[in-house]
Order: sequence, then structure tokens, then C-alpha cells
Amino acid sequence: MQEILDAILSGDATSADYAALALPESYRAVTLHKDEEQMFAGLASRDKDPRKSLHLDDVPLPELGPGEALVAVMASSVNYNTVWSSIFEPVSTFGFLERYGRLSPLTKRHDLPYHVLGSDLAGVVLRTGAGVNAWKPGDEVVAHCLSVELESPDGHNDTMMDPEQRIWGFETNFGGLAQLALVKTNQLLPKPKHLTWEEAASPGLVNSTAYRQLVSRNGAGMKQGDNVLIWGASGGLGSYATQYALAGGATPICVVSSPQKAEICRAMGAEAIIDRSAEGYRFWKDEHTQDPREWKRLGGKIREFTGGEDVDIVFEHPGRETFGASVYVTRKGGTIVTCASTSGYMHQYDNRYLWMSLKRIVGSHFANYREAFEANRLVAKGRIHPTLSKVYALEETGQAALDVHHNKHQGKVGVLCLAPQEGLGVRDHELRAQHLGKINAFRNI
Ligand SMILES: NC(=O)c1ccc[n+]([C@@H]2O[C@H](COP(=O)([O-])OP(=O)(O)OC[C@H]3O[C@@H](n4cnc5c(N)ncnc54)[C@H](OP(=O)(O)O)[C@@H]3O)[C@@H](O)[C@H]2O)c1
Repeated sequence: MQEILDAILSGDATSADYAALALPESYRAVTLHKDEEQMFAGLASRDKDPRKSLHLDDVPLPELGPGEALVAVMASSVNYNTVWSSIFEPVSTFGFLERYGRLSPLTKRHDLPYHVLGSDLAGVVLRTGAGVNAWKPGDEVVAHCLSVELESPDGHNDTMMDPEQRIWGFETNFGGLAQLALVKTNQLLPKPKHLTWEEAASPGLVNSTAYRQLVSRNGAGMKQGDNVLIWGASGGLGSYATQYALAGGATPICVVSSPQKAEICRAMGAEAIIDRSAEGYRFWKDEHTQDPREWKRLGGKIREFTGGEDVDIVFEHPGRETFGASVYVTRKGGTIVTCASTSGYMHQYDNRYLWMSLKRIVGSHFANYREAFEANRLVAKGRIHPTLSKVYALEETGQAALDVHHNKHQGKVGVLCLAPQEGLGVRDHELRAQHLGKINAFRNI
């Protein structure tokens, strides 16, 4: 492993040098253990501690298949799916691996008693499998997390529609929270040259998701002048949604839960910010009953910022707790676009406000390769910036996941894998210098 790292740190190793490097038989990886699936049974979600379920193990190197790449991972990041996996909610991820394993002898490799997690990476290609022409050893890359088989016609207009669509490192094995990772080469994208490894590894999953959900015609199709209500605007998804709204000529109305998070939204350039804690919204009177007066109070607050207008788009992901309010505050003909249900997936809303006002609820999930490419391209051009706030060592991934689980983080949380320290991997210093303030916006608060 040291030789691989030396080659990367040298900055001048050729593709032939990388191809000649011996591969190790095993590597260090953050894993879940199948025999611990029930370890949190009976505990409340909040009390399930990722530090107990996430292990740092030596695992064998998987066999490289056709159309795949083995990547030396310099850095990765924690996503909310790392939290879901680590607390075995809403289901254990080993069910995903078993199902994937039944597809073919090649996918059987994924069905193991351990699960290497992680749906982001920045690193260097070490080997490519048969049939790969677009990528070669030595390429500096990031990976998006869409894994597809594309054997069915269904996925050929939009790869997210593939019946065998999976999220790499969540519904498949050999993820990015490790020294090495196995990906399909149609997950690879060029690493933004002005970013460090840990900065480059942090946008992938959430940036691509926010791009499809808000900007793409497959999502809300945001246009100039739209008012966009963004829940969790300083969080993983929200920090990109806010940037897309600003960059696309829309007006983000950012909802956050502390003055510090409000400050972050201001640093991104947002002006309309609602602190949901300070405002004390209680959309539910009790477990079963919502309070429409609270929806109305939120709507009134939004109108204060917009000169009386309602929102064209709600960027939804908290789910049960906020969905009734989201449907209510959307303008006539507007769109509620949802990709998650962090606070509960059994949503309740007053359908009269949906049909009488001709609103649309749109489901959105990750992004296809093209959308992930567009989102990464904007990062590479310095138009959208990483929102990295803190970086952990690989062995501290459990703590990083706990912080995200308990909503103690800002933006994105990074993890160093092979990279011995932060700050490495920048190739375009000029572009970096132009955007340094924005790149560090989440670090400085
Ligand atoms: N379908 C997909 O492809 C996809 C992709 C990425 C993420 N997701 C899912 O989307 C969700 C958010 O992911 P993320 O990376 O953005 O997580 P995150 O970094 O934790 O940010 C979410 C933010 O939402 C806000 N929030 C949480 N609970 C809330 C509630 N009950 N009411 C109002 N606001 C609440 C919090 O901000 P404040 O406390 O500041 O308000 C939090 O910072 C997760 O469930 C994740 O699994 C889905």
C-alpha cells in the first residue's frame, strides 16, 4: 500500500508506473458485520451509536470484473446513508447485498458477511477491467454512486430507471470508506483539479442528488426567478440546493435550526433565512395531529421575504415532520420535490391544497451519470463549491457518522483514507486561489 501511496504523492507517476504496481492482498476498510445486524434491537434511533457498529477491518481485495475499476481512495465522506447503514435502519443493508448477489456470479462477490460502506471517493485508478477504454491507471478521479446493470430497456432513457439501479457503498459492497474501492467505470468522473482530495470527495452524492432534484428536468426543473424553500439549507443536500438556487437566478428561502447555520447560509450568499428553532414551529400538535395554523405561520414568514409571493418549489427531505407544511406553502401550480424522509416516511398532508391548487409532488432519487457529470463539471469549473466543514481519519468514521446522525455537523463531513494529511492533491492552484474563500466557507464558521 505504501508504494501506491508514494506513487500518488509523487505527482509524476505515469500510467505505466501505476499499472506496474503490485496490488496488496488486503486493505483497510470501514465495515459493518452481518452477525451484528440485531445489535441495536429495541433502542430508539437516536441511541443507536455508529461507533459501535462501524469497524475498521483488513478485508481481502475483491476480484476485478469487466467494466470495473479498482481505485486507490485518498479520501471519502460520510453521507446520511452511512448513518442509515450503521444503525441498520430502516432495514439492514445485508438484505441488499444478498439480493444483489443472486443476480450473477459476478455480483455474488458483493454478498459477504461484512459490508464495506461509503458512497463517495476521490482517488487514483489502479486497474481497469476488461472492456474499459475511457479510463486508465493513474487517472485522478471522483466516483458518483449510481450502480446500474442496464440489461433492461427501462434504464436507457434515464439510467435511474434501471430495475437493477443501486447506490454503490450502500446497496453494493466495496464502498469508498476504505483504502481501496471497486466501482463500475461508468461511475467515474474527473477529479476537480483545484480541490484537495478531501474537498473533491465531499460533494459527489449530495451534489448530484441536489442537481437532479432541483435543476434537472427529471426533478423540479428550477428556472430563473423561482422562490425555492430549502429545508436543512446548511446540511449535506441543502448546502448544494442553496448554491444551485443562487447560481440559477432563483431565490432560496433557507430553513435552518441555529444562528450558526444561518450564518453559513449567509456566507453562501442567501438572504432569506428562517431559523426553525427560533421560530419554534410545531407542525404536529401530537403524534397523529398536524396544526394547519403552523403551516400558515410558515407561509406568512416566507411571504415576508418574498414580498408576498409563495414558493414555486419546496426542496423536501425531512419528510413526515415537514411535509404537510411543504404542500401547504407551495404556490398554485408549484412543485414539492422529495428525495427522503429523515423524520419518518409515512407522510400526511391535506390533499385539498394539492389538487385544488394543481401542485405536483415529484419523487427524486440520486442522479443519472449525465446529471452527476453536470454537477461535477460545475464543481470543476469553480461554479459550485464543496461544503466541507470537518475531516476525520478513517478510524474515526464512527464518530463522524454519529455527528451526522445527531445533526451536529455543517455541510459535509470528510474522511481521509490513504491521504496522510489534509491539503494534498491540488493540481490547479490558480483556479483554487480564485475561489478559496468559498471553498473554505463551511470551515471558517
Ligand atoms: N434519495 C437520495 O438520493 C438521497 C441523497 C442524499 C440524501 N438523501 C437523504 O436525505 C436526507 C438528508 O440528507 P443530508 O445529507 O442532507 O443530511 P444532513 O446533512 O443531515 O442535512 C439534513 C438537514 O435537514 C434538516 N432536518 C433534519 N431533520 C429535520 C426535521 N425534522 N425538520 C426540519 N429539518 C430537518 C437539518 O437541518 P437544520 O437542523 O439546520 O434545520 C439537517 O441538517 C437523509 O435522509 C438522506 O438519507 C437521499
